[in-house]
Amino acid sequence: MIVVNVSKSSKIDRMSLTLLAIESSCDETSAAIIEDGTKVRSNIVASQIDIHKEYGGVVPEIASRKHVELIMPVIDKAIKEAGVSKEDIDGVAVTNGPGLIGALMVGLSTAKAMAFALGVPLIGVNHLQAHMSAIHLEHEISFPFVGLVVSGGHTSLYLVSSYTEFEMLGKTRDDAAGEAFDKAAKVLGLPYPGGIEIDKLAKKGNREAIPFPRPFMNSSTLDFSFSGVKTSVVYYLRKHPDPNQEELQDICASYQEAIVETLVKKTIIAAKQNDVNSVVIAGGVACNSRLRELSKEELEKEGVSVYIPSPKYCTDNAAMIGSLGGFMFQKGDTSELGITPFSTSRPKYGRGRGGQAKNA
Ligand code: KG4
Ligand code: ZN
Repeated sequence: MIVVNVSKSSKIDRMSLTLLAIESSCDETSAAIIEDGTKVRSNIVASQIDIHKEYGGVVPEIASRKHVELIMPVIDKAIKEAGVSKEDIDGVAVTNGPGLIGALMVGLSTAKAMAFALGVPLIGVNHLQAHMSAIHLEHEISFPFVGLVVSGGHTSLYLVSSYTEFEMLGKTRDDAAGEAFDKAAKVLGLPYPGGIEIDKLAKKGNREAIPFPRPFMNSSTLDFSFSGVKTSVVYYLRKHPDPNQEELQDICASYQEAIVETLVKKTIIAAKQNDVNSVVIAGGVACNSRLRELSKEELEKEGVSVYIPSPKYCTDNAAMIGSLGGFMFQKGDTSELGITPFSTSRPKYGRGRGGQAKNA
């Protein structure tokens, strides 16, 4: 075990906490400088979307290679744009899972090397919990709240009782909501990533045109299932091939409504069961315009306030890693340099502290 020399701890007591944060779990290489878990000094995101578009989805090996190319220029830019020097950095926060192992390795190895060279602590951060922490970059919110994380790889509900305590309440049993958007978009002939394309086309369509299924909608479980609704689009297209533009808009609007309504209904149940009056919706799918609209409408009717980060903090970014990393650091929850990346959420449910792999 390598022990990091925390030579800057006396400085941290007196001044604000400045973290370098790194995110490389999927197809965005990102670095940020974050102060006190809340103030964004810089947040650089280099997206690989245009490269993966050609293949209709993220190719893990290409993602890893691109991260290798981009990671240092992105970090240098984040430091430069923040107007800090390397000596000002009090710790390095990094995503250590869940995500693509090869992609995570690039960010994690870089973070370890930087923490070691600078003589500051390393903070391994859970990507999904960090999505919810993005809210602290823009809003002050009281605890507890229910957090819905909706991304390309995950759809989960949490009870968040402090800056660093997250209890999973439910999760998808099959596809994530973002995955359901992306896969349906693919069969509809739309480019990757499909969520945003469906969102655009849905704006002109009829949400009630096609009654796509809403799994578990009338059950009290806080789990989700999106593979059925995705398959129903495939069956619908078999019966109604080659939709014209108007029909495509209706399919998108109806499909989006089925997903969004399920997400909102389950979030309302979670808020009621846990007697909370605030909800945070985070992750890439939280950019969806209908989810942003319907969640506010329906949850506010129930007396629950809805907080959603700005789109730039919903999709993958290092600022959110620096936010959770900052709160973990303040609690003394730092990591050894020997930590390893993890690809999936594990185990299924339970209480967990920020950044711990045990409750992804
Ligand atoms: O959080 P994120 O950037 O990466 C993961 O951690 O997965 O989420 C990416 C997901 C993709 O599935 C993408 O299609 C979806 O977010 N997404 C959207 C929208 N913008 C991004 N889904 C629906 N509507 C959108 N406007
Ligand atoms: Zn994400």
